[in-house]
Amino acid sequence: MARSYARRTKERQERLSADGAHRLVNERVYVNSGDASAAVGLSMSSADALPQLIGKTPLVELKSLSRLTGNRIFAKCEFLNPGGSSKDRIAKQMVLEAEASGLLKKGGTIVEGTAGSTGISLSLMAASRGYKCRIVMPNDAAKEKTDLLKKFGATVQTVDPASIVNDMHYNNVAKKIATTTKGAFYTDQFENLANFRAHYNGTGKEIYDQTNGNVDAFVMGAGTGGTISGVGTYLKEKKGKDGVKIILADPEGSVLYHRVKDGIAYAPQQAERKLERHRFDTITEGVGIDRLVGNFLIGEDYIDDAIRVSDQQCVDMAHYILRNEGIFIGSSASLNCAAVVEFCKQIGPGHNIVTILCDGGQRHLTKFWNYDYLRRYNLRIPNDKMPISL
Ligand SMILES: Cc1ncc(COP(=O)(O)O)c(C=O)c1O
Repeated sequence: MARSYARRTKERQERLSADGAHRLVNERVYVNSGDASAAVGLSMSSADALPQLIGKTPLVELKSLSRLTGNRIFAKCEFLNPGGSSKDRIAKQMVLEAEASGLLKKGGTIVEGTAGSTGISLSLMAASRGYKCRIVMPNDAAKEKTDLLKKFGATVQTVDPASIVNDMHYNNVAKKIATTTKGAFYTDQFENLANFRAHYNGTGKEIYDQTNGNVDAFVMGAGTGGTISGVGTYLKEKKGKDGVKIILADPEGSVLYHRVKDGIAYAPQQAERKLERHRFDTITEGVGIDRLVGNFLIGEDYIDDAIRVSDQQCVDMAHYILRNEGIFIGSSASLNCAAVVEFCKQIGPGHNIVTILCDGGQRHLTKFWNYDYLRRYNLRIPNDKMPISL
């Protein structure tokens, strides 16, 4: 690897204490505990309501998966954030840090390229704090996300899915808009390490506290890598390198599985030019990357192993969780749970394993939860008579 483990550790530490901005943000996070009595005496405006509701999500045991695997499987319910996903955390952190550093000023415009969830969270932060919001997204994302973005007041531009080297990739279009729009701030979720800090100081710390440190493994996919890097770094720093395993869950077509396994960011589908679904060759949304980005790289050394999950496993698992837990999850949450079960096959019983339920199924009704859509990709639809293959 290009940089040594020690060098990266030093860089991570520098980035966690680099500027005062994130400290300021985190003070606000913990002052705004949601406890009304804590608010007495603080001059809070109504605009502060949304940030208070973000984070501190419940960690629940998925008993059906615990029984199935002989381990205790815990899920952090990020779909309970007000914007419906864990992206609320990074939207809050990126906006508050940008305000604190003067990059985002009153009347300004937040600009982002996103597959959807980050845009939804940013559009709510924009509404809460009086900014305009412009979102560029690929036109293959579920329609529910575009509809929500528009309802929440964002200006939405959709573009054809394209490679990151193409000027019309949604991130490049967003970047261009930000450089040509007065008062715009490009939040840049892939490279902005406020993303990592939100999960290091928030999700990671919460998981450690909620388990009293009794966590043996954390399993998570990567969209930007912010969650796995932030949580992974926090848990490894607390428990030591061998005290907890950090496992990447990766969909078909993403380059990260081979990056973790072999040190090379590579997906066989790309080499063979046989991508069938979209650029990652998966129906899951929000996870899988076709390049290496800052928020993944900063925590990469702490990732112990990777597990490849097929779309069929994701479909099966989402139905299993719905039937056995009564929890309606989206595709990336299902990918995480499927990877947990695969990981359990490797490690055997008796461990405490934590994963993330990133978002709910509601915003996937027209794709991941649409049976015509699944049939188009030759995916089998689990029914009550058919045992789910886990
Ligand atoms: C729906 C969904 N899936 C997957 C992810 C992947 O997370 P990250 O971008 O931190 O890698 C997120 C983000 O939290 C998400 O909201």
